[in-house]
Amino acid sequence: MYEKFYGFKQKPFRNTPDPRFLFMSRTHEEALARLHYAVEEKEIAVLIGDVGSGKTTLTRALMDSLNEGFRMVLIVNPRLTSLEFLKTLCSRMHCDTKSPYKNDLIDALYERFYDDHKAGITPVVIIDEAHLIPYRETFEEIRLLTNFQMDDTNILSLILVGQPELKKKLESESLGAFRQRIGLFYHIGPIGQDEIKDYIEYRIKAGGRDKPLFSDAAIKALYSYARGIPRVINSIASMALLEGFAKDVEMIDESIVSSASKEIGLNGYRKD
Ligand SMILES: Nc1ncnc2c1ncn2[C@@H]1O[C@H](COP(=O)(O)OP(=O)(O)OP(=O)(O)O)[C@@H](O)[C@H]1O
Ligand SMILES: [Mg+2]
Repeated sequence: MYEKFYGFKQKPFRNTPDPRFLFMSRTHEEALARLHYAVEEKEIAVLIGDVGSGKTTLTRALMDSLNEGFRMVLIVNPRLTSLEFLKTLCSRMHCDTKSPYKNDLIDALYERFYDDHKAGITPVVIIDEAHLIPYRETFEEIRLLTNFQMDDTNILSLILVGQPELKKKLESESLGAFRQRIGLFYHIGPIGQDEIKDYIEYRIKAGGRDKPLFSDAAIKALYSYARGIPRVINSIASMALLEGFAKDVEMIDESIVSSASKEIGLNGYRKD
């Protein structure tokens, strides 16, 4: 709707995990570097972040950046019992078994992992929304995957991605054995106040417009409402563009950002 008015080819603040719109803020850059390290070293990695902080976007960027030496397996709905988890993983790894028995599934998986290993391929299993993993047995099954080793080295990398509840879960006594296997842990923080201007400009450019669109005061207000969380920044910015278009204004100012924030229910969220 407003795309043409503001000279965009694509909506700049859409909330989809599209790596083309990925802005490398300090925290995202560090998270991605650590994920790369984890897959190279075939480690278990845990990536934590608040709702809307960019976890799924980063996993997509990681997947896009890896070459054919890696087999990416993405599990996005891990509300699974341990048996369902193994079945899901078997089907994603194209194992040729339909057996309902755990032992058969584990054997089939081992065979596939071993085939990959011989072919010089590292399987990378990414479990998004891992805070939703319901049972200790499912965590246990995931941990046991790391027993698949060749010559004392792991043959796959596991990445668990989730909201801060995941960290709490992992701290529970019953998951001590799992915790000990984690080789790398990173908590994505908010985008810094000094980075949001660049973030906004980057997204505007990725949307196809070259000129600035938000005043400095508008960007400052946007930061204080959204507290550096990308999804919230995007929602407010999208609403602001819609309002700006409706009001026929060329630059988005602070008052439009404030009213856009109210519109999406963030009024009084935080005022600096
Ligand atoms: N570094 C970034 N650069 C550009 N856009 C980003 C960045 N991080 C996140 N986003 C945007 O924020 C939105 C939310 O990100 P994402 O879905 O990855 O968050 P999440 O942490 O997985 O959230 P949830 O906890 O709800 O699963 C995405 O649609 C994406 O457009
Ligand atoms: Mg997500």
